[in-house]
Amino acid sequence: MCGIFGYLGPRQATSILLDGLRRLEYRGYDSTGIVIKNGSFEIHKKVGKVGELESVLPNRIEGTAGIAHTRWATHGVVSDENAHPHPSAKGKVVIVHNGIIENSRQLRTSLTVQGVDLQSDTDSEALAHIIERELSVDNDPEQAVRRTLRLARGTWGLCAMFLEHDVIVCARNGSPLIIGKGEGEMFVSSDPHALTPYTQRVVFLEDGEIATLTNDKMSLSTLKGKNFNPDITVLEENWGDSDLGEFPHFMLKEIYEQPDALRHCISGRLDRVRGNGRLGGLKLEPRDLAKVPHVRLLGCGTAYNAAEIGQLMIEKLARIPAVAHISSEFRHNDPVINPNALHFAVTQSGETADTLSAVKEIHLKGGSVYGVVNVVGSSIARECGKGVYIHSGPEQAVASTKAFSNMVAALSMFALQVGRSRATSKEQGREIINGLQEIPHLIEEYLEQQGPIHEAVDMVKNAKSVLFLGRGISAPVAKEGALKLMEIAYIPCLAYPAGEMKHGPIALLEEGSPVIFIAPNDHVKVKTISAMHECKARGAKIILIHEEGDDIASEADISISIPRVHPLLSPLLTVIPTQLIAYHTALALGCDVDRPRNLAKSVTVE
Ligand code: AGP
Repeated sequence: MCGIFGYLGPRQATSILLDGLRRLEYRGYDSTGIVIKNGSFEIHKKVGKVGELESVLPNRIEGTAGIAHTRWATHGVVSDENAHPHPSAKGKVVIVHNGIIENSRQLRTSLTVQGVDLQSDTDSEALAHIIERELSVDNDPEQAVRRTLRLARGTWGLCAMFLEHDVIVCARNGSPLIIGKGEGEMFVSSDPHALTPYTQRVVFLEDGEIATLTNDKMSLSTLKGKNFNPDITVLEENWGDSDLGEFPHFMLKEIYEQPDALRHCISGRLDRVRGNGRLGGLKLEPRDLAKVPHVRLLGCGTAYNAAEIGQLMIEKLARIPAVAHISSEFRHNDPVINPNALHFAVTQSGETADTLSAVKEIHLKGGSVYGVVNVVGSSIARECGKGVYIHSGPEQAVASTKAFSNMVAALSMFALQVGRSRATSKEQGREIINGLQEIPHLIEEYLEQQGPIHEAVDMVKNAKSVLFLGRGISAPVAKEGALKLMEIAYIPCLAYPAGEMKHGPIALLEEGSPVIFIAPNDHVKVKTISAMHECKARGAKIILIHEEGDDIASEADISISIPRVHPLLSPLLTVIPTQLIAYHTALALGCDVDRPRNLAKSVTVE
């Protein structure tokens, strides 16, 4: 989604800003822009990729201060005019903004009444004009931003530059902004990992905070005007390999990284002797876990699918109620929060606005939330303050793959831990631990022998729609497979628990309709196979993902076998063929695999 990268220092800014923009590209965007200050503001904006912006830039732009932006349209169509930065009417202020200004209609109307000629359809532009108006009051950039934001309602990660002042004023409310402190230079970014090539010393702005930056100083204050000292965090340099290496796309690279990512996730977190999980970041003792009345898990998209698997694992091992919720619905349904219950916020980016709001809602009502997060130091990780990092390393493709696996693995370790404090025996615990430790190797084995993925691609690539069915723990895998194929190959996909198929989706089946079944060797396999027969009887073509050596392979049109796996951990294997089908189908259809249209990697608006 929208991204910000800013620089203030002794070096020429343009190449630093373009490099910053490239590091933000994976988040998904539709237009870009840059402003460099060199006596005046030199602004360039362009619909399309960073490369397209570069192609319209003059050979050399002098200037050692600037801000760059990637826009993901919310208000106003995708156009050069609507791209950021936005200058103010008299050209004294220029801003970039992430988030949504909810009262922008009123702000724009009052500006129009005051005679301001608005140049874009965005909610953001109004801020530039109001800051300029407020600047005329006392010529104080920070106060001008403060007074402006007191008039605004909504969310912002905002950076403002001033023609007559050598500062960048930054403000955060609900949209991340991180200040990077170099030697005699300052950086600002909406993504901490875009800063690490330049500095590891960062300050995460919190909601309601303002930072005024000069080359060598940052002054921090609240929206109310209270000053405070910076709390500098030193980022890990070794976040992981974020280059493509020999792979053609990040998605394929990340699919192949799953075995190692899983090894990182489980390493040091399994207690073989006690048959237990050891998630230290939860700071929960067995006696605390034994008293938990229920567990709720929150997430969006892939993270929600992983949360549904976590729900089933927790109920199975701990025999306490667990339920997964879609974050975007959660707070609007005025949920009842039990302060003794455990809540988990599951998220790769740690910046998903819907999940962050759900976390805040729980906190507001006296509950506590544990993060199951990939990005260290992200907003949700910090808002939760405790939890489990899933250690997937950087995930750049918009379609989440290795983060899904690690979310499932992290939740399985929690399920084991809470299970051992209640209903799961040491022996059962050890079985799960053995199963988990084998998974990375089993995935490698499968990736060596993937089965007829390309036949499956031929079957789905021109289909009107594709139905994914699974039962029990495979029902969320079916959802995840459908989400992946839909988001990158733009094929309408429907996912249902297999038993529900006859209650509606069966009406869609015609001669040749492709149906993908997920049917590992668990207690519901027989029932899933009945659903498969019902589909076949109506002319559907079956792609079956099943365990090797079972007796059902011959019943499908295309059967893809995975190695034998512990029934509770089967999602970690069955999901892999669905990822490969999605990837190769998108490729066959000429789609942009890593950056599918309209989507963003971190969805920072509600
Ligand atoms: C996954 O392939 C999607 N791009 C999307 O559903 C994603 O999982 C969702 O937006 C949640 O993101 P998060 O894990 O960063 O919170």
